[in-house]
Amino acid sequence: MITKYLHFNEHDLSLAGELIRAGELIGFPTETVYGLGANALDEDAVKKTYAVKGRPADNPLIVHIYDKSQVYDIAADVNDYAKTVIEHVMPGPITIVLPKQGLIKGIVTAGLPSVAIRMPESTEARQFLRAAAVPVSAPSANLSGRPSPTTWQRVREDMDGRIAAVLCGAPCRVGIESTVLDLSRTEPIVLRPGAVSAEYLSELLGIHVGVLTDPTSKVNSPGIRYKHYAPKVPMVLELDDDRDKLSAYYDQKAAEGCNPVLWVQNPLRFGGRNAVGMGINAEAAAANLFETMRKLETQYDFIIASFCWRKNTLYDGPASQGVLDRLMRACGHNII
Ligand code: TXA
Ligand code: MG
Repeated sequence: MITKYLHFNEHDLSLAGELIRAGELIGFPTETVYGLGANALDEDAVKKTYAVKGRPADNPLIVHIYDKSQVYDIAADVNDYAKTVIEHVMPGPITIVLPKQGLIKGIVTAGLPSVAIRMPESTEARQFLRAAAVPVSAPSANLSGRPSPTTWQRVREDMDGRIAAVLCGAPCRVGIESTVLDLSRTEPIVLRPGAVSAEYLSELLGIHVGVLTDPTSKVNSPGIRYKHYAPKVPMVLELDDDRDKLSAYYDQKAAEGCNPVLWVQNPLRFGGRNAVGMGINAEAAAANLFETMRKLETQYDFIIASFCWRKNTLYDGPASQGVLDRLMRACGHNII
C-alpha cells in the first residue's frame, strides 16, 4: 500500500474524511500523541487497527469526537461527574470511560460494557474528526511496544506502507497520552495518568480521585503490566537526581565497553560524559519524552534516565505522574 501524506487544506481534509468512511486507517495529530484513526462504527476498519499495530485484542480503543454532544450518542449513562468533566476539561488531554451504547461494538471496547471517549483540544485533530463525520476510534499511531509518535515523521517511521494516509500536522504539545478517567464505577479513578492530574480532578469533582496503577507501588512488577514504550536499547531509571550515583553508574557502563547516555534534568552537571536534558519541568519532560527516547536509542546503546519528582522539586507538577509512569514502563521497572 502506498501511504498518502496529506495536509491541512480543504481538499486533503475532505479526502481524509472519505478515506475514513471507506474503512481506511489514517494517522492524525492530537495535542497528546498522533492517533491511528478508523471509523468506530465499521467493525472491519477497527479490526485493521489491531492488525496494523500488532495490538493485543484485549486492549480497548478510545473513541474520538469533535463535539461534546456526541458523548450522548456513544455513552449510555452520562453521570454528574462526567458532566462536570465534559464542561471543564473537554476538549483537552483527557479520556472518560462510561457505560457504552449499542452503537459502539465490542471490537472497539475489547468486549467491555464501557467505552472510552476523548475530545481532543488540537484544532487540527478536530478539523479531521469533523471531516470524518463519524466517531473515530484511535490508539496511538505507533507499532505496539514502541514509544508513541509525537510528530508525523515518527508516524511515517512506524506506519509507512501499512495505512492509507497520514495527516501531517504540528508536533504534539503535551507529548504523553491522555489521562484516562474511569467514570463507569461508583468512584472515579484514573486508569492512566496524563497531563490532567488526579489532584486536579479530585478538586474539580469534590471527591478523592485515586490512580489505579501507582507506578511506585510494588504491585506493578514488570510481569504484571504490559511492556510498553520500550526503547530498542536497555534503559534504567534513577529517582533521586543523585549526581554521584548516576556518574558512577555511567562510568561502570562505559568501562564495560558501552556507549551510555545520561538523560537528566541538568546535563551540565555531568561534564565529560554523554548527557542529554530531559526538560526544565515535568511538562517540558512530557513534551519531549517519546521523541527523545526514539533519538537516544539510535545514538547510544544504554540509557540512564533520572526523574526526581518529589514535592517541591523541579519535576513536581501536573504531568509528573504521567511522565514517571511512561519512564517506569520504558525501563521495565528497572530502578537503580
Ligand atoms: O492521548 C491519547 O489518549 C491517544 C490519542 C491518539 O488520543 N490515544 C491513546 O490510545 O493513547 P491507546 O490505544 O494507545 O490507549 C488507550 C487506553 C488504553 O490504556 C486502554 O486500555 C484504555 O485507554 N481504554 C480504552 N477503552 C477502555 C475502557 N472501556 N475501559 C478502560 N480502559 C479503556
Ligand atoms: Mg498506545
